Amino acid sequence: MALKLAILISGRGSNMQAIHRAIQDKKLDAEIVSVISDQAGAPGVAYARSQSLPVRVLERGSGESREDYDRRLIAEVAAVSPQIVALAGFMRLLSPHFIQRFANRIVNIHPSLLPSFPGLHAQRQALEAGVRVSGCTVHFVDEGCDTGPILDQRAVPVNPDDTEETLSARILEQEHRLYSACLQLIALGKVRVEGRKVLLL
Ligand code: GRF
Repeated sequence: MALKLAILISGRGSNMQAIHRAIQDKKLDAEIVSVISDQAGAPGVAYARSQSLPVRVLERGSGESREDYDRRLIAEVAAVSPQIVALAGFMRLLSPHFIQRFANRIVNIHPSLLPSFPGLHAQRQALEAGVRVSGCTVHFVDEGCDTGPILDQRAVPVNPDDTEETLSARILEQEHRLYSACLQLIALGKVRVEGRKVLLL
């Protein structure tokens, strides 16, 4: 049975596209049951519509609290009964309520080798720190910011003449491979979360 995925996006959606391509190429045994965006104008929304994927736009109302927004988001996600909620450039911090509701079923991709450089502008942080190697991480989401159990990582070199753009592009290429590969491990039932660690069976 294909893994039922809800994908949450806010922008470009290139990771969502890579996941969709991996499904089409039969490298990932999954079904995208919903793409949910908190931004109506996100390019990822246009892509999802062009591919006839089920898309929902859920913008935060002016004055709406994070908790109220998350309650609506939970209802949207729960309505499609996904096995996994995949964050792919979703720029909103999820409330503890959301995280507990889908405990150990939310995954995220982050453009650094966590636990280094969590939060925004991870590639810029890596350049500023002068590291020679960076990369990307797929992890389960807990209540911290990019602190959840790590599923897998890919390293890329940082070159002396790198800019934020060139490093981001090199990392993104690996993100597109890593995310689908991790989701396929989950689809195959090979992933178990035990406390802070992920066991690969
Ligand atoms: C990626 O770099 C991802 O690691 C980070 O946000 C970016 C999203 O890019 N969480 P895209 O929308 O998937 O193209």
